[in-house]
Amino acid sequence: MDSKEIVHDGDDLYKADILRKIDLSKLSKVSFDPPIEPCKPGDSLILRPLNRRDFSKGFPQILSQLTAVGDVSQEQFIEAFDRMSKCIDTYFVTVIEDTSCGKIVGSATLLLEQKFIHNCAMRGRVEDVVVSDEYRGRQLGKLLLAALTLLAKQVGCYKLSLDCKDNMIPFYETFGFVKEDGNGNFMTIRF
Ligand SMILES: CC(C)(COP(=O)(O)OP(=O)(O)OC[C@H]1O[C@@H](n2cnc3c(N)ncnc32)[C@H](O)[C@@H]1OP(=O)(O)O)[C@@H](O)C(=O)NCCC(=O)NCCS
Repeated sequence: MDSKEIVHDGDDLYKADILRKIDLSKLSKVSFDPPIEPCKPGDSLILRPLNRRDFSKGFPQILSQLTAVGDVSQEQFIEAFDRMSKCIDTYFVTVIEDTSCGKIVGSATLLLEQKFIHNCAMRGRVEDVVVSDEYRGRQLGKLLLAALTLLAKQVGCYKLSLDCKDNMIPFYETFGFVKEDGNGNFMTIRF
């Protein structure tokens, strides 16, 4: 891989180096045609950790294509970013930027939950997967999911899970996610 493509910035939410170690060929059921890599997602695109300066690059706008974001100010974004940043090796918010226009065009989060069970193991959760509507169909959603799935494995998670709508099940199944019989209920209280 070209190490110049993934550069660590002190304002990144996590160390970018970890993305360099991801080898997409390890996900045997997921294929990329044309081939892409975490270090080369496509012309002018880069895959990288969320950065403290990404508010002005359209990060909230990207999330608003997934769900209601609310009227989040830059100050609120920075506060939330700093809270996450203080939780070492917990929030792996990963984005794709189109450097030709300086805009965030995709994002997905790997959240690591520390456990006491299973010998103080770690569980991973995938959250907030979204690709800008203008960039869909270019394998970027697949790249984000593949990268986070392999990252979860690399950091030693004993399991990785997510919640999704019925129509998204086939998408996630290609990465190895399965609905476990008798254990696949997702329960919620909304406040
Ligand atoms: C879901 C989403 C992230 C996919 O991003 P994308 O960059 O367009 O996806 P890709 O180009 O990587 O497509 C990957 C594969 O998934 C399939 N796929 C894409 N969107 C899908 C959807 N909504 N339902 C089912 N399959 C889908 C594609 O057909 C493609 O299959 P292929 O590899 O066999 O051709 C994007 O459509 C999105 O942001 N949607 C709105 C937010 C959302 O629903 N997020 C998921 C929350 S659980």
